[in-house]
Amino acid sequence: MSAIPNLNVIEHPVVADLLAEARSRETRPGRFRHVVRRLGALLTYEAARGLPTQDETIETPIEAMTTRRLAYPLVIVPILRAGLVMADGALDVLPDAIVGHVGLFRDESNLQPVGYYQKIPAEAASGPVFVIDPMLATGGSVIEAIRRLDARDHGAVTVVCMVAAPEGVERMGREYPAVAIVAGALDRALNDSGFIVPGLGDAGDRMFGT
Ligand code: PRP
Repeated sequence: MSAIPNLNVIEHPVVADLLAEARSRETRPGRFRHVVRRLGALLTYEAARGLPTQDETIETPIEAMTTRRLAYPLVIVPILRAGLVMADGALDVLPDAIVGHVGLFRDESNLQPVGYYQKIPAEAASGPVFVIDPMLATGGSVIEAIRRLDARDHGAVTVVCMVAAPEGVERMGREYPAVAIVAGALDRALNDSGFIVPGLGDAGDRMFGT
């Protein structure tokens, strides 16, 4: 657990190893997407720890028993583009989640998010929601995505990211203190161009070869 109350950095050797591959400039798009998908699964697995379950009685080959099942509906909201591949990994863990989409790009002249698409299911207003994006830099994109959810209880919203910058985490703490952030790493800072340092570059460009 991090010193920042709303942030949970997953300290795990497997996560660290995958992040090392994602960060390396030598990693090409095919491998990069593979690594991002796996991190999406592992980080969502950790983020899902507090999810509610419901009892269900089943028959094993031996006898009847009461088991716990995930309580759906659950909602996953990738921020396009870079969140898409990570969301595939999240769906490996929560296969019957409903998927909403928010399309945003960051205007590099002022670092403000610009919206170009959204399709958000009604369940996002009430159920557990995982907002997925590899990078939390200034926090502007994630904050804009959360605003669009119209969530009644922000405590039901969790942000899942691979790499976070302190600036974005602190801003999230001010604007949405009830929203938990699960991250693979907390990096040093943002540079003058708003990129995370050391970071991994532009995740969308790297996964789609643009
Ligand atoms: C990147 C990244 C986040 C955002 C982070 O997306 O995937 O969505 O920037 O920056 P912020 O926290 O300062 O808002 P980008 O704008 O490059 O779009 P893309 O996913 O289409 O590449």
